[in-house]
Amino acid sequence: QKLIVIGTPVQEGTGRPGCNMGPDAFRAAGLIQAFSELGHKVEDRGNLVRHGGEGAHHDNPVLKFLPEFVGWTEAIREAVIAARSEGIPVVIGGDHSLAAGSLTGNAAYAGQRGRPFFVLWLDAHPDFHTLETTTSGNLHGVPMAYACGLGGFDGALQKPAFPVDPKNICMMGIRSVDPAEKIALAAHGVTVCDMRMIDEEGVVPLLRRFLDKVKAAGGDLHVSLDVDFLDPTIAPGVGTTVPGGATFREAHLIMEIVSDSGLVTSLDLVELNPFLDERGRTAILMTDLAASLMGKRVMDRPTQTY
Ligand code: ARG
Ligand code: MN
Ligand code: MN
Ligand code: MN
Repeated sequence: QKLIVIGTPVQEGTGRPGCNMGPDAFRAAGLIQAFSELGHKVEDRGNLVRHGGEGAHHDNPVLKFLPEFVGWTEAIREAVIAARSEGIPVVIGGDHSLAAGSLTGNAAYAGQRGRPFFVLWLDAHPDFHTLETTTSGNLHGVPMAYACGLGGFDGALQKPAFPVDPKNICMMGIRSVDPAEKIALAAHGVTVCDMRMIDEEGVVPLLRRFLDKVKAAGGDLHVSLDVDFLDPTIAPGVGTTVPGGATFREAHLIMEIVSDSGLVTSLDLVELNPFLDERGRTAILMTDLAASLMGKRVMDRPTQTY
């Protein structure tokens, strides 16, 4: 499978500048080379330019950069759909608001072919606000709810043509949830593996349960990896650090098991803020994790049947 890398220098969704440098930090960390050394064909499509969205409006006064969000969402959706027909789109961000475009693009591609669409969401946050419920107004907090077709975006964004089924989402690493998100996640039946579940059960059984579901359904699998999924002591290069995150070993284990499944059809690497990083260590760790997901192994064991 060919990997198609799409740089999306989006930073308007977060409260502070810096994520616009994310795509170039991934390149500096050797992401493209790491993929090709694994034997993949790789095409770097460069950085996307936002277009459209002018005049987008919603009555919630706290919303920040709504027109920019709408413009990015449409541009990313188009780019992802085009890339998906040629291989595996790897969207390198850029803050998590980019997932509004990547999720709806990949879901549309799957939906048009009658394939169920699943999402593995690795994040401290569910990003399940709507334009009505967000209190911060930072639109990196809304992409998952938008992609599921929840109300609360009406008038500002077009409804996704193929909404993600909330029951096909597995969130892992969750440890910062706002009250409105908690209600919406429960109402829609999203599987939320919070840190307590990870501590009690471990990542492996939680992950295998989900992957079995994807495999049984013959679905496409989108992986969205937010830097703040990781513990801030190993991944400081992000604006929204939350203590108690995934360890180096948990993160790599997840990547390897998902890779062994052979199910991944698209990937987002998001929230890297090089301005907050320390000598590129977060960029390098995220790059190593992406390489694990795409097949890098310590020992070249035969592929496990998971
Ligand atoms: N729930 C909080 C908010 O709405 C934090 C969202 C953080 N999202 C992220 N992609 N880092 O502001
Ligand atoms: Mn266009
Ligand atoms: Mn996120
Ligand atoms: Mn997050």
